[in-house]
Amino acid sequence: IKVEPYRPQAFIDFTVPANVDAYQAALTKVRAELLGKHYPLIINGERVDTAEKLYSTNPCDTSEVIGSTAKATIEDAQRALDGAWAAWADWKTWSMDARARILLKAAAILKRRRLEACALMTLEVGKNYAEADVEVAEGIDFLEYYAREAMKYSGFGAAETTWFDGEENGLMYLSLGVGVSISPWNFPYAIFAGMFAAPIVAGNCVIAKPAEDSGMIAGFVVDIMLEAGMPAGVLQFLPGVGEEVGEYLVQSAQTRFVTFTGSRSVGLHINEVAAKVPKGQKWLKRVILELGGKDALIVDETADLPNAVTAAVQGAFGFNGQKCSAMSRLIVVDEVYEEVVGQFVERTKALSVGTGEANCNVTAVVNQESFDKVGKYQEIGKGEAKLLTGGETPGECGGKKGHYVQPTIFGDVPSDARLAQEEIFGPVVAVFRARDFKHALELANSTEYGLTGGVCSRNRARLEQARNEFEVGNLYFNRKITGAIVGVQPFGGYNMSGTDSKAGGPEYLGNFMQLKTVTERF
Ligand code: SER
Repeated sequence: IKVEPYRPQAFIDFTVPANVDAYQAALTKVRAELLGKHYPLIINGERVDTAEKLYSTNPCDTSEVIGSTAKATIEDAQRALDGAWAAWADWKTWSMDARARILLKAAAILKRRRLEACALMTLEVGKNYAEADVEVAEGIDFLEYYAREAMKYSGFGAAETTWFDGEENGLMYLSLGVGVSISPWNFPYAIFAGMFAAPIVAGNCVIAKPAEDSGMIAGFVVDIMLEAGMPAGVLQFLPGVGEEVGEYLVQSAQTRFVTFTGSRSVGLHINEVAAKVPKGQKWLKRVILELGGKDALIVDETADLPNAVTAAVQGAFGFNGQKCSAMSRLIVVDEVYEEVVGQFVERTKALSVGTGEANCNVTAVVNQESFDKVGKYQEIGKGEAKLLTGGETPGECGGKKGHYVQPTIFGDVPSDARLAQEEIFGPVVAVFRARDFKHALELANSTEYGLTGGVCSRNRARLEQARNEFEVGNLYFNRKITGAIVGVQPFGGYNMSGTDSKAGGPEYLGNFMQLKTVTERF
């Protein structure tokens, strides 16, 4: 296929009034056309409904039901597995180019429907305009990027092997079979799409189980994949409950691989279940995990302090801190602690809190469970450290009942506090006072996670030290620590943050392929 080199999508500039108007027009359109819509399962290309449903409510106004999906049963999951294996027999024979073409066509459709997808996310999970737009751009990028990556694997001998006289040697890249993709609600469009598109373009068939809170946006994406020509059975859409169909699929002897993005506890459970070999299973399941983070930004005394404070606010409170990459720890060298923390608190107090539709800086957290969890950690924090701002969970805003929590900062947090070690996944930041840069780096490395991290400093030697010693999969200097761009910052973490499989990176498709070396003696 002739394609121009991969370039990430540009983001929409919402300081331009016409762009804001266009977004609001999309919200009106989505309210008129998609509100109350129901997305059935898709198994073997057919829409299948279930007796029970999963409902999506607007986190910013919990009286409003946005729509629903079907709720898959174990029998549905088994049919999805059987159908996917049947579809694989043909799909695996398609050329990489032919498979890539479907992703490219889907990306083209998604570009045309970009604002609609954004608006649906605003309603279903409460993203403000920029957060939704960045995510929709990322989803398109995943399709464009993995399509191009797949083309590199075409044909026998795609990988380098050494010449040996009298023989022809080469490596073939082959797909694995049928896998399960279990994706999160916090990037319900981009990560959902990336987690099925990569294995599928590599020749596998995938059962995609979206998160319970965000099934509609997933259904929207799947419809576009079908419109782009995805053959029946290659992408099975199976919204359902994790503990039920997720569990069934992960343990099944018919599952060849599992790719999961979500919490540490669920990830460890999946890892354990997938490691067992049930009767009839003739492979070791591959497990690709992207888990949590307790991500830190270090600010030293040489830093451009206003820039550092901006990085902290953006990293901490973008989409209410509901990102595995979010800055949940701010580590400030003593000499500038008061100044940096003072500004950080002031900037945080100035954030607008309200609905995604009103494009507020901080909106409601996704569901009751998250709301309760944030409230619990606010109370734990009050016993462990000094509350600097926030600390309450009002549960309403501007007369609307929703999962509203205040952006919260705790200062002088001890390094062994629960607030210092446990992922909260909400707008709660723990601030640490470091004696010097060395101490700051020690604090940064003192959790079991290792996803993102950052340093704001003008000291070249310290940046080089951090480059080598900061134990994270994604390290950023003098900027926010969220918002990795596909192909630009391959994303994934160390230690308890996952298998460092680097979504949006040049190695990622390899997770879903096996290699065969073939030698012919001439
Ligand atoms: N990739 C996202 C980020 O970098 C998190 O999943 O913020």
